[in-house]
Amino acid sequence: MKGIILAGGQGSRLYPITNIITKSLLPIYNKPMIYYPLSTLMLAGIKDILIISSPNHICSFEELLGDGNQLGIKISYDVQKKPNGIAEAFLIGESFIGNDDVCLILGDNIFYGKNLPTILKSTVNQMKKMDSIIFGYRVNDPQRYGVVEFDNNKNVLSIIEKPLKPKSNYAAVGLYFYKNDVIDISKKIKPSNRGELEITDVNNAFLNANRLKVNILDTIFWLDTGTHDSLVEASNFIKTVEKREGKKISCLEEIAYKYGYIDKDGLKEIIKKYSNEYGHYLQKLIS
Ligand code: DAU
Repeated sequence: MKGIILAGGQGSRLYPITNIITKSLLPIYNKPMIYYPLSTLMLAGIKDILIISSPNHICSFEELLGDGNQLGIKISYDVQKKPNGIAEAFLIGESFIGNDDVCLILGDNIFYGKNLPTILKSTVNQMKKMDSIIFGYRVNDPQRYGVVEFDNNKNVLSIIEKPLKPKSNYAAVGLYFYKNDVIDISKKIKPSNRGELEITDVNNAFLNANRLKVNILDTIFWLDTGTHDSLVEASNFIKTVEKREGKKISCLEEIAYKYGYIDKDGLKEIIKKYSNEYGHYLQKLIS
C-alpha cells in the first residue's frame, strides 16, 4: 500500500502565521506538524510515501525530510499547483500509486492513542477484503467537517461536507484507505460549488456503490489544527502527554528504529545532528 500526505492549501484561516510558512510545517509543540501524519503512515507500516504541497513550499518539505532514507522509508514529492481539492491528490499521485491501494492522510491531521498502531495495522489488513475504509470521530462542532449520517443500526446513510445542520456529531477524519480505483473515481467527480474536488464526493461514490466502510475511532484522540485556538490546544495536548509519560509522540526516528526500518547505526547517525533534549531522548533508546 502506498501513502500520500496532502500538505498544501493556502492555510488562509491561519493568516498571518501562514502568510509565508505553510501550515504543515508549523510547530506542534516540539515537532513540525508534518511529523504527525507521517508518523501515522509509518505506524501503519506504509513505507512508500508521496508528499504533495504547493509549488512555493514543496522544497521546504524536501529539505526537512529528504528522500526518507535516513528513516528507512521512501519519500517522493509532487506539487499541487492550486488548492483544487483534496481528491486531486489521487490525480497528482496517479503514477506514484501505480497499481497499488492507497492511504491518504491530510498534512494537518494528528492522531494519538495507545492502540493507534493496532488500529492502523488492522485497517491495512482489512483492506485486503474491503474497498475503502474511512473513520468517524465524535466532535462538538461537526459543521466544520465532512459529517457521517447513520441510521439506527449504525449503517452509513450519507456523508455531507460541512453541513449547516449536521445529522450527527461524527466527523469524517482526514485519513482514508482506498482500493486503486479511487484514481478513476476521482477523475469522474466534478468540482463542488466552492470549486474543489471534494474527498466527500469520493467517499459518497464508494458509499453509493456499497463499497465504503466507516470505522468509529473512539479509543484514540484526533486533534484538529484548523484554527489559531486548536493549534495551541494541539501543542498543549502533546506537551502534556509527553511531559507526563516521558515519551515522545510521533517521534519519527523512534518509530523507524522500533519498527526496524533503521538499525542502531542508522539511529546513531541521526543523533549526531542533535545536541538538545530531542537527541538525548533518541540516545536513551539505544543506551
Ligand atoms: O480534517 C478532516 C476534514 O478535512 C474532513 O472532515 C473534511 O471532509 C475534508 O473536506 C477536510 O476539511 P477541511 O476544511 O479541514 O479541509 P481543508 O481545506 O482545511 O484542507 C485540509 C488539509 O488539506 C489542509 O492542510 C490543506 C490541505 N489541502 C486542502 C485542499 C482543499 C491541500 O493540500 N490541497 C487542497 O486542494
